[in-house]
Amino acid sequence: MIDKVQALKEEIQAFKANKQEELETFRMKFISRKSDISVLFEGMKSLSVEEKKKLGPALNQLKQSAQERFKELIGIVESTKTASEGSHMDMTLPPIGATIGSMHPLSAIKNRIIEIFERIGFNVADGPEIEDDWHNFSALNFPENHPAREMQDTFFVERDPDIVLRTHTSNVQTRLMENNQPPLRSIMPGRVFRNEAISARAHCIFHQVEGIYIDKNVGFADLKQTIFHFAKEMFGKHTKIRFRPSYFPFTEPSAEVDISCNICQGKGCNICKYTGWVEIAGSGMVDPNVLSNCDIDPEEYTGFAFGMGIERITMLKYQIKDLRLFTENDVRFLKQFRSL
Ligand code: PHE
Repeated sequence: MIDKVQALKEEIQAFKANKQEELETFRMKFISRKSDISVLFEGMKSLSVEEKKKLGPALNQLKQSAQERFKELIGIVESTKTASEGSHMDMTLPPIGATIGSMHPLSAIKNRIIEIFERIGFNVADGPEIEDDWHNFSALNFPENHPAREMQDTFFVERDPDIVLRTHTSNVQTRLMENNQPPLRSIMPGRVFRNEAISARAHCIFHQVEGIYIDKNVGFADLKQTIFHFAKEMFGKHTKIRFRPSYFPFTEPSAEVDISCNICQGKGCNICKYTGWVEIAGSGMVDPNVLSNCDIDPEEYTGFAFGMGIERITMLKYQIKDLRLFTENDVRFLKQFRSL
């Protein structure tokens, strides 16, 4: 029996384990209740007292060494485990941040426009997207059946009396003038609708920011200076502006506003079609008829108004060539604006 103990001792010392299964084999053979060692303890019962005295300590020692070796082997298996997992885990790498969304470029530019005008005393006004004929057209001096109404391809919700999807945010100007006496100084950002085929340059839903300023002695120079201030804040301090005569039913005189092309600095490129200028807004002095339509005395007050497309400003600012990108919600496009 003593030979058996010796043999087991050697076997225990020589046992190697790298995997969990091998540990289990060791446990079964040397530790468990049915282990070879337990069998030897069982066998002790039939021995004489003399023999028990000799074999007892040796067996106890064997049991202890089995337990010690088992602990060692557990340590080895654990460390090989982490080493192999560690081969594809670099603890020194910075953690991957949570993926967060980004502001839509149109929202970012809208907020920037609001910020610029708020700083010079304009507040923000809001109004309905579904509008009656009076607030969208008639009060703004569009004569009945006048072709000027055709300028803005209207979506009609109802006919006679007409209810339309607003074709511009000027309807908010009408409501503002009707309900308030000057001085008025507001901008009105919002969604507008026109019945146009969707292409890279046109969409049936887009966004405008219009503005109005009515007070005593407001002149065209105030309009120019306000737009000039906006253009420099939005596109940089070297931006130049120019006004081209134009026509809108609600303003007289009317002008379209160009800025020097912010991409080629006026030298000429394909964005400005080699003219050095790009259009950003319509504007003019509020027509006296519009003021009286809204119960504001045109003898006492004058005012200017302007309107621009948020898409247009955003496209110029970020050199976006296709309007449809704004509504496709392709994350590859949207995530480029993460820093906004
Ligand atoms: N309402 C005009 C449009 O939608 C823009 C505009 C506003 C022009 C105010 C002049 C004055 O095109």
